[in-house]
Amino acid sequence: MAQKTINLILMGYGNVGRALVRLLEEKTDRLRASHGLSLSLQAIFKSTGGLFPCAGLEIKDILDDPAAGLSSHPLWKSNLSLESVLREAEPGVLVDCAPSNLKTGEPGLTHTRLALDSGWHVVTANKGPLAVDFSALRRKASGNRLALKFSGAVAAALPALDVGLYSLAGTEVLAIEGILNGTTNFILAEMGKGRSYSEAFQEARARGIAEPDPAYDVEGWDTAVKLLLIANAVMGLELRLADISVEGIVDLPAELVERARSEGKSLKLLGRIRREQSGPIASVAPCTIDRTHPLFGVDGPAKGITYFTDTMGALTISGGKSDPRGAAAALLKDIINIYRS
Ligand SMILES: NC(=O)c1ccc[n+]([C@@H]2O[C@H](COP(=O)([O-])OP(=O)(O)OC[C@H]3O[C@@H](n4cnc5c(N)ncnc54)[C@H](OP(=O)(O)O)[C@@H]3O)[C@@H](O)[C@H]2O)c1
Repeated sequence: MAQKTINLILMGYGNVGRALVRLLEEKTDRLRASHGLSLSLQAIFKSTGGLFPCAGLEIKDILDDPAAGLSSHPLWKSNLSLESVLREAEPGVLVDCAPSNLKTGEPGLTHTRLALDSGWHVVTANKGPLAVDFSALRRKASGNRLALKFSGAVAAALPALDVGLYSLAGTEVLAIEGILNGTTNFILAEMGKGRSYSEAFQEARARGIAEPDPAYDVEGWDTAVKLLLIANAVMGLELRLADISVEGIVDLPAELVERARSEGKSLKLLGRIRREQSGPIASVAPCTIDRTHPLFGVDGPAKGITYFTDTMGALTISGGKSDPRGAAAALLKDIINIYRS
């Protein structure tokens, strides 16, 4: 198989960034044999600087860095600028694993614009830039004939976007319903076992399912952003966060969950959008669903999504790992798929 070398720049070396670097090491042979790809890490950025040039380095040497923080590495540069790396290296893919800021989109928004203006594809796990400027970023990417892929930002390993964009091609997606946040689904499942909201919340923390600051999750914003990105991409909309009515599960009375359970039903935090003649209607809210609902069995920290279409009926996918390794695997899949075509 003919081999192609692709340069990567990694923004963010936290849980997901490190998991991606580990995967690059682990999957080197498979990427060459099955996809003809050799992924060459050029630079890794953190908030305080970056490691550059990484091209000649063995990935295992980066991973073996005793501080695991990179800044003690001889190639660490505290004043490294993204512009200089984008200029010096042959364009490939910028991978954004920086923190999500849903209000400003930064730091990812500036990185993404710079990369797309410099001939680099962007693959991102970071919801922030997409939440703030989705339509303009997509236009910039397509105007420059570049890919902007974001599976890792919407549902990590659950291939919600791939199914919506590829498998449902030619259909009209009439509505979407999704359980798109594993933390809240876990909390609701624990409440279904008789726990209060705060007990279930603490359990999610203790098991490492909830992030240190899970406010976006439990207030429903994480679900809302994912719904927005999926709906805009798959249904061709230009929704903004303000167009979605959002209600989370904070301090949800345990009786509501218990009542649903005693009736053989289940309470889920659902993201929903449907086309109406007046325009799309989108919401995030706790909803009671019965056994006939396709997402009834999506339990614990799992996620799932149902597409309602005009010609293929309703299709549901669920499962996939909800952790940094699952998110990193989604990033790797997006990188591979850019070059598949
Ligand atoms: N964790 C998951 O399971 C998961 C799943 C799907 C999507 N995501 C998304 O993936 C992204 C990364 O998540 P994470 O859990 O890996 O976060 P994290 O552990 O907090 O790591 C974030 C990394 O970004 C770096 N960073 C911050 N500001 C930066 C800047 N201006 N330039 C370059 N790098 C910068 C941080 O640098 P320092 O080390 O210097 O602070 C850190 O290395 C987030 O947007 C998150 O929402 C996470």
